[in-house]
Amino acid sequence: MKNINSIISRNVQSIEISGIRKFFNKVAKYPDAISLTLGQPDFNVPEKIKEAMINAINENKTTYTSNAGIIELRKEISSYLKTQHINYNENEICITIGGSEGLMDIFAALIDPSDKVLVPTPAYPAYESCVKLLGGNVVNYNLKEDFSIGFEELEKLIVQEKPKVMVLSYPSNPTGAILSKEDNDKLHKIISENEIIVVSDEMYSALYFEKEYYSIAQFDDIKDKVIVVGGFSKMFSMTGLRIGYVCATEEFMNSIMKVHQYNVSCAPSIVQYGAYEGLKNCMEDVECMKKEFIKRRDYLYDRLIKIGFESNIPMGAFYMFPSIKKFNLKSEDFCERLLKEAGVAAVPGLAFGVGGEGYVRISYAYSMEQLKEACDRIENFVKNL
Ligand SMILES: Cc1ncc(COP(=O)(O)O)c(C=O)c1O
Repeated sequence: MKNINSIISRNVQSIEISGIRKFFNKVAKYPDAISLTLGQPDFNVPEKIKEAMINAINENKTTYTSNAGIIELRKEISSYLKTQHINYNENEICITIGGSEGLMDIFAALIDPSDKVLVPTPAYPAYESCVKLLGGNVVNYNLKEDFSIGFEELEKLIVQEKPKVMVLSYPSNPTGAILSKEDNDKLHKIISENEIIVVSDEMYSALYFEKEYYSIAQFDDIKDKVIVVGGFSKMFSMTGLRIGYVCATEEFMNSIMKVHQYNVSCAPSIVQYGAYEGLKNCMEDVECMKKEFIKRRDYLYDRLIKIGFESNIPMGAFYMFPSIKKFNLKSEDFCERLLKEAGVAAVPGLAFGVGGEGYVRISYAYSMEQLKEACDRIENFVKNL
């Protein structure tokens, strides 16, 4: 056989498997380690969702659904989004296999080879990889110290690079930062004045710790330039059930739907009934989970600051992204040593792009006991650095 590299596509060769997974796999070699690596809430799927899925099986709701997904769920998503002042009707929503499929569908519908896509750094790694897989060119925009948008640089890049698409990612994985009203208004102005499409990943919109939620999708006058990705993996702690959604004007949706149709036909039918039940009857479960995350965030933040870390206080999702710059170690070396010497696994910031170097991502989707023990271990580790 020929050299494998001459067979595998150049686009695939240009990407690597996720640094998050890579590190998670290393942790398996340290059975006593506490892993704070994954973006998986440690709550069970709400009982009513489980029952709805069991009922769906017993009622033989196991056939293909319409490509876009069952209408009752799309209508329920539309109502849910209205509570966040975001307007999409059921024909502007497509149910996908997690936000992951949604992201890929959108990029595949938009990107031609060499098209430029503005991607924040640090950010969830899938954006860069999806763009590269499709032959697009990633142009990074840096986030400021508090992980908000550096508008001066952003505006310059839009003028100089003329990107076709821009990714927004709030509430953020890995930083826990959210979009402020002021920044949302600034973005609105920039997007109104420029030829650019925004892909707004709002996977963590249900895990938002402020009173008011801000999203670029709230501006109806630029709706023809905005596409939203959302989902239930985090909201209902159902990461393995693989369900999410995309919202876009029908003009965009017609093309996104082509990719979705030929890729997966539809999202799993029984899970669609589960998500429907969740939106109708499990919002209290989401509130309970959110309250618990806030408690854990406060605990983790206090401990890390006392230990001597510098960190922003996360206002959404369930990740903290403290700086490790003062320790003069690369994020991969820091995490490797933290794992080997202290038995705590956290994700190196570099896994989230060049802007993540100098930081580590700690997920607090773990029990208070695990967080306490992990903080004790981190404290001892840092003393000896
Ligand atoms: C920011 C962000 N977007 C999208 C996803 C994909 O989520 P899903 O499980 O719905 O595919 C994740 C998962 O961690 C995420 O953190």
